[in-house]
Amino acid sequence: MVLKSYAKLNLYLSIRQKRKDNYHNLDTLFERIDLCDIITLGNRQDSLIRITCENRDVPTDASNLCYQAARLIQKQCTIKRGVDIRIDKNIPVGSGLGGGSSNAATVLMGLNQLWKLGLPRRTLCNFAKEIGSDVSFFIHNIPFARGRGRGEKIEPLQQLSRLRLWHVLIVPKLHLRTPFIYRKWDEFTKKNKKARLTRQTLNVRILISLLKKEKLRDLTGLLFNELEQVVFLNYPQLRGIKELLIHSGLDVALMSGSGGTIFGITSSKKEAIAAIKSLNVKGRPWQIFLTRTI
Ligand code: C5P
Repeated sequence: MVLKSYAKLNLYLSIRQKRKDNYHNLDTLFERIDLCDIITLGNRQDSLIRITCENRDVPTDASNLCYQAARLIQKQCTIKRGVDIRIDKNIPVGSGLGGGSSNAATVLMGLNQLWKLGLPRRTLCNFAKEIGSDVSFFIHNIPFARGRGRGEKIEPLQQLSRLRLWHVLIVPKLHLRTPFIYRKWDEFTKKNKKARLTRQTLNVRILISLLKKEKLRDLTGLLFNELEQVVFLNYPQLRGIKELLIHSGLDVALMSGSGGTIFGITSSKKEAIAAIKSLNVKGRPWQIFLTRTI
C-alpha cells in the first residue's frame, strides 16, 4: 500500500497558557499543503514493526512516530501481524512542517485499511493524540482546520474548503527541536511578563473571514505566530529570511509551527514562481519549495 503523507503550515499560532502536564494550550490555524512524503506499508509474516528510511535524520527505532502509531494499533486492536513501513522523505525534518506527525497519521489510517479494522475517525483521533499534538489534524483529511487544546482538538473549517493558496517555503539548514523552543518560550515569558500582557490579541475569526474572501493583502498583522519572537531571538537569520520573502513580492510571510520554515503566501502560481526567481538564493544553505493547499 503506497500513501501520500502531506505537510502542514500554521497560518496562526497563539499560545494561551502553560498546562499542568507541561504542554501549552494553543489556538492555531492549520493548512495542509501538497509537499509530501511517501509511506509504503507491507504486511509481514511475523509480528515485527520494521521502519526503513534513507534519510539519516529520521530514526528507525521505537522513537519513530510511525513505529508508535503501528504499535498502538497492534496493542489496542490486539493484532498479531507485523508491518514493514518504508518512508520516502521529502518534507524536511525538524522544520515546523509536521512531517513526523503526518507520517504517523498516515500509518494509522493506512493500517486501518490494510488490516481491515473499520475503526471510525473518532477512534483514530484518540490514538492520534497519544502520539503527538499535530497528528489529529492529519486524520481529519481536510485542507484547513482550527486547532485548540494542545493542538489536538480539531475544528474543520468547511467555509475554507475551496480556498487554494500558493506558497514559497524557505527551509534553512536548522533542525529545531519543538520542546527546546517551548522551553525558550517559558523562559522568555517569565522574563517579559509585560510583553505577554501587551501582546497582540488577534481575532482568528477575522483572519478566517478574510481568507474566505481571498483578501490576502489584508492578512498582514493577522497572520501571526507567537513563537516567532523567541525563535528569532535564538536564530536571528530567520528574521532575515522572513524579510527577504516579504520583499520578494509575496503578500505575507510567516514562520510555521516552532520553526524554522518561513513561508510566503500568494493566490497564484505565477506570482509564487516570480517571487522564487527574485530571491537571490544561490549559495545559501536553504531548501526552497513551491507548494499549495491540498
Ligand atoms: O505533542 P508533541 O509530541 O508534538 O510535542 C512535542 C513537544 O512540544 C512537547 O513535548 C512539548 O514540549 C511541546 N509542546 C507544547 N505544547 C503544545 C505542543 C507541543 O509545549 N501544545
